Amino acid sequence: MVVAKPFRFTAFCICLVPYIVILEAKETVRKPPHVVFILADDYGWNDVGYHGSEIRTPNLDKLSSQGVRLENYYVQPLCTPSRNQLMTGRYQIRTGMQHQIIWPCQPYCVPLQEKLLPQLMREAGYATHMVGKWHLGMYKKDCLPTRRGFDSYFGYLTGSEDHFTHYRCSLIPPQNLTRCALDLRDGEEVATGFTGQYSTHLFTERVTGIIAKHDPQKPLFLYVALQAVHAPLQVPKRYVEPYGFIQDPHRRVYAGMVSAMDEAVGNITQALRDTGLWGNTVLVFSTDNGGQTLTGGNNWPLRGRKWSLWEGGVRGVGFVASPLLAFPGTVSRELIHISDWLPTLVLGVAGGSTNGTQPLDGFNMWKTIRKGTSSPRLELLHNIDPLYDDVAPCPGRESTLTLAPALSQGQWSDSGFNVTVHAAIRYKSWKLLTGYPGCDHWFPPPRLSNGSETSRPASPLKPVMLFNVEADPEEKQEVSEKHPEVVNFLLARLWHYQKASKPIVFPDDDPRCDPGPTGAWGPWE
Ligand SMILES: *[C@@H]1O[C@H](CO)[C@@H](O)[C@H](O)[C@H]1NC(C)=O
Ligand SMILES: *[C@@H]1O[C@H](CO)[C@@H](O)[C@H](O)[C@H]1NC(C)=O
Ligand SMILES: *[C@@H]1O[C@H](CO)[C@@H](O)[C@H](O)[C@H]1NC(C)=O
Ligand SMILES: *[C@@H]1O[C@H](CO)[C@@H](O)[C@H](O)[C@H]1NC(C)=O
Ligand SMILES: *[C@@H]1O[C@H](CO)[C@@H](O)[C@H](O)[C@H]1NC(C)=O
Repeated sequence: MVVAKPFRFTAFCICLVPYIVILEAKETVRKPPHVVFILADDYGWNDVGYHGSEIRTPNLDKLSSQGVRLENYYVQPLCTPSRNQLMTGRYQIRTGMQHQIIWPCQPYCVPLQEKLLPQLMREAGYATHMVGKWHLGMYKKDCLPTRRGFDSYFGYLTGSEDHFTHYRCSLIPPQNLTRCALDLRDGEEVATGFTGQYSTHLFTERVTGIIAKHDPQKPLFLYVALQAVHAPLQVPKRYVEPYGFIQDPHRRVYAGMVSAMDEAVGNITQALRDTGLWGNTVLVFSTDNGGQTLTGGNNWPLRGRKWSLWEGGVRGVGFVASPLLAFPGTVSRELIHISDWLPTLVLGVAGGSTNGTQPLDGFNMWKTIRKGTSSPRLELLHNIDPLYDDVAPCPGRESTLTLAPALSQGQWSDSGFNVTVHAAIRYKSWKLLTGYPGCDHWFPPPRLSNGSETSRPASPLKPVMLFNVEADPEEKQEVSEKHPEVVNFLLARLWHYQKASKPIVFPDDDPRCDPGPTGAWGPWE
């Protein structure tokens, strides 16, 4: 009797062991998952149904409700910087691209020594395709997506073009002549014949075509950088019709654009299901920055907007949907940043290698997303930009200069860091902002009225501001005086990063960018 138990136990183990081995072997031979990364443009925090928006997003709501919603997820406050960090896994200070965006005539691009995400996915055995907005530089051919890791590319190289004509207008130096020209390419060739096709439809059709043609035996990396929902505010009428109850005309058209984008995400996931790829797909949805309240976007209840380092500029809508998630239907409050996707997708999802990259700032978040383990990221440098200027200042803050007299090193003079410089850093629940962070108003949702003028004035800004953004995501309680030790620690961290920054690259416009009266925007060197 006494020995019976251990005996039975042993016998049990003998049967189990080979079974476990088989399971593990099966696990390791599983093919690398397909990766579909959908990046929305200027999509605000309060513009998705599951954040309580009046804008209807049934596909995003449903897909994310079966996935993992990332609710403590950060992006950069602008297009080029977010895309740059997504592609390099590195902070902007590492590439000299900490200032603004790449304007059409500026002769620079993401440094060519940076190894980009699609190159690494290709090395991991993936087919790599990109559809949509590049915005990472194009003055010479070596900067183009097809030279930087993508097998195929269909899209536009700059930003802000017309959604129907695919034309972009820009000033050409030195006479500041306004040039409007096509910005649409298939591979490296100019793509003509798409006039009148709405960008969201055009790009979705291209994406579903790639999915339909894809050999399921080969892992697919598909980067979909939608033009939606960036200005200009344009959308086919049928998408606006359900929004007659929104009085603000900007918000109304914007809502229609969001609906078209939501339909696009539905079509893309349907194509993945129809082809049978979905069962082994990881789909990421992310915005590139906060909403632009000047053109219909909204980040309520968060403070600020696109082009600012307030939460409304950098806290992003994002989620992961995949049958491979261990806990579908959950919300993650772990700190995750757009620079984390490179190691997450290459190491975590694809099982590849980041060999050959420069030192990464991103972390592999696959376990955090897939299994809900805690995030390895404790700190996040939002940015340091000594040249910051607000190209669309908010009412009452027409110029950063009006702030200058109030700004002095004051009690923080020992830190080494020049606190008049526009910067922000996060450590655990703390966020420190220095200099002028950008438009600091809270913009209430323009739900039922013409809300364009109703932004609540904020209290005076200080050169150094500290918030506990876990407890106070709306950045209402400035607490630097209560926690000088935290301020000093974070200023020291900023100083550490500032010393390691590459000098800003922001060249003057090159007149050779001019595509001429019949040409298209593209490489000129
Ligand atoms: C062109 O625009 C720039 C920047 O706005 C300005 O500094 C410059 O004087 C303008 N040049 C001409 C010829 O108008
Ligand atoms: C989605 O697919 C439907 C059916 O093919 C089509 O009518 C619609 O235009 C597509 N929507 C988008 C945004 O591509
Ligand atoms: C990294 O790449 C280099 C050159 O491409 C190669 O020599 C080296 O073996 C690689 N290392 C690993 C760990 O893959
Ligand atoms: C601090 O930075 C500002 C720009 O934000 C600059 O004008 C000023 O000269 C700097 N001060 C010092 C002491 O470097
Ligand atoms: C909102 O109303 C104001 C004043 O009534 C008007 O000047 C402004 O043009 C309106 N804005 C929009 C976007 O309709």
